[in-house]
Amino acid sequence: MDDARDGGQAALPRTVGILGTGRVGTVLARLARDAGLEVHAASSRDDPAAACAAEVVILAVPLGRYRTLPKDLLRGRLVVDAMNYWWELDGARPDLDDPRTSTSETVAAFLDGARVVKAFNHASVWELENLAHPAGHPDRRGLAIAGDDARDRAVVAALVDAMGFDPVDAGPLSAGVMLEPPTDVFGSDATADELRDMLARFPRSQRGRVVARARGEAG
Ligand SMILES: NC(=O)c1ccc[n+]([C@@H]2O[C@H](COP(=O)([O-])OP(=O)(O)OC[C@H]3O[C@@H](n4cnc5c(N)ncnc54)[C@H](OP(=O)(O)O)[C@@H]3O)[C@@H](O)[C@H]2O)c1
Repeated sequence: MDDARDGGQAALPRTVGILGTGRVGTVLARLARDAGLEVHAASSRDDPAAACAAEVVILAVPLGRYRTLPKDLLRGRLVVDAMNYWWELDGARPDLDDPRTSTSETVAAFLDGARVVKAFNHASVWELENLAHPAGHPDRRGLAIAGDDARDRAVVAALVDAMGFDPVDAGPLSAGVMLEPPTDVFGSDATADELRDMLARFPRSQRGRVVARARGEAG
């Protein structure tokens, strides 16, 4: 669990697509524009073609609606899953509440052929609105990144960095479970070092033990 940039510096993407123009989509669009990136955002009523053609496409729709995402347009794309299962909003969904599978793996299985990386999900809208700072700022917060391809994680790390947060590499997409509710990381407003500590402690946490039992891993 290193600084995601340790796996190699990646070029910052120039274009970002955002699906979902609610609370999270709106603030992420502003942060990306502030970073000098070209942003194409779309709600469910808009044509998503331009958003889906961007170098990185961020998913910011209610997770319970992931099956409405335009999977054909996202095939082969680098897709950032910023979504969380929120039962008050999404309803009771056993498919999204199974500790054997991170919700990003479920999304990746649906978006067959997309390169899914989990990021931005554990920050609150308030944190994204108020705690984005330039690199080196003493109050900078960290954001964890999980994905199966190190190069894709490095691209998303460059994006996170440009948008005002220190990227922290959490490992493969299955490790995205450490960033979901209910975990210490989720909603923590933590620095990069604090995030690394929380990720290291996850196996000993209550949720970590539930996940390990469900996955048949040694506790
Ligand atoms: N709120 C937070 O603090 C927070 C923080 C981090 C992550 N998240 C996660 O981010 C996601 C969005 O949360 P939110 O608070 O921004 O929700 P929100 O304010 O309800 O916005 C959701 C947006 O998604 C759009 N949408 C739904 N289906 C779509 C589709 N197939 N294609 C394009 N757009 C679609 C909705 O637009 P329509 O009008 O077209 O339906 C709406 O603009 C959720 O998964 C949430 O768990 C939330």
